[in-house]
Amino acid sequence: MAFALSHASASMAQTPAGAPNPDDAVQYGAYVFRAGGCFECHTDTKAKGQPLAGGRGLPTPFGTFYSPNITPDPETGIGRWSEADFVKAMRQGLSPKGENYFPSFPYTAFAKITETDMRALWVYLRAQPPVKQPNKPHDVPFPFNLRLAVWGWKFLYFDDAPFTPDPAKPAAWNRGAYLVNALGHCGECHTQRNLLGGLKSDRMFGGSTDGAEGKPVPNITPHPSAGISRWSEKDIADFLGSGMTPDGDFTGGLMGDVIEQSTKYLTAEDRIAMAAYLKALPPVESPPRKPK
Ligand code: HEC
Ligand code: HEC
Repeated sequence: MAFALSHASASMAQTPAGAPNPDDAVQYGAYVFRAGGCFECHTDTKAKGQPLAGGRGLPTPFGTFYSPNITPDPETGIGRWSEADFVKAMRQGLSPKGENYFPSFPYTAFAKITETDMRALWVYLRAQPPVKQPNKPHDVPFPFNLRLAVWGWKFLYFDDAPFTPDPAKPAAWNRGAYLVNALGHCGECHTQRNLLGGLKSDRMFGGSTDGAEGKPVPNITPHPSAGISRWSEKDIADFLGSGMTPDGDFTGGLMGDVIEQSTKYLTAEDRIAMAAYLKALPPVESPPRKPK
């Protein structure tokens, strides 16, 4: 009941075109879960790990973080959590005990997820099979291993404001903005970070010298030389569906995972909405190459 009510109040920009109906909680949750890319980080596919049981290593300039088990197992997963615990983790980056999560968990983006979608994620996660698998400790040296220090980081870089549609923009742009910034967290890899690991807000989507496990990530703004201005809206939408670039090459690596586990499951309308948003971004220069 509460689910149907919150859906009714969701604005047009947040209603997925052609996606499962939010009234079908688990199926709709599966869709939101794909759009959020939760599977990639929380499944150790390299070691053929169980879905969502965690253990995937996420190398960063600060050390390697290991994703936790988010299956409903009561001992090793989040089986004892309440929905409020889940919402607090996703929106505030805080554990049930009130400890900070490291921003390798992209709650900076997830804080902007709508209420309908957040509830759907929770319902979906609860419906998954529990897997008993203890979490691996992070391999991150001092001082970056201090959860308390994340307060300072959050003060500087964490904006927990909800997503607000821009009524002056077309519905597709708003839907795309939501998918790219809130669920898809595309800027987390496609934006240069400063020395403290905060996204450079004047360089959003301008690419990164080391954003993908230490490797460069391309500029996806319509900058005429540095970005993807020659890609049409359809080129971008097709790429997010199949991984094929306009030159006929196929992407692999981390972007391959994003497509394989996330964007290829989205409807054509949603992929076009993301492309329309990217095409309308302000063009941004790429960061200078790192000296070798
Ligand atoms: C870029 C990788 C990444 C993505 C994508 C990601 N997570 Fe996580 N998540 C993490 C990491 C790393 C942590 C642990 C952070 C820490 O220990 O401070 C985490 C922690 C969590 C926790 C807390 C678990 C616990 O035991 O305390 C929950 C819940 C969670 N993620 C849910 C999700 C959901 C739902 C999605 C998809 C919408 C998602 N995550 C997407 C990396 C990711
Ligand atoms: C985990 C890091 C990561 C995330 C998250 C990510 N990307 Fe990427 N993306 C990459 C990398 C790395 C490449 C380069 C792949 C290659 O060279 O084949 C790339 C390439 C691309 C390209 C092609 C650009 C070009 O010039 O070839 C587009 C378009 C793109 N990403 C869009 C997105 C969108 C939209 C999202 C959010 C749904 C997203 N990416 C999320 C890492 C990421």
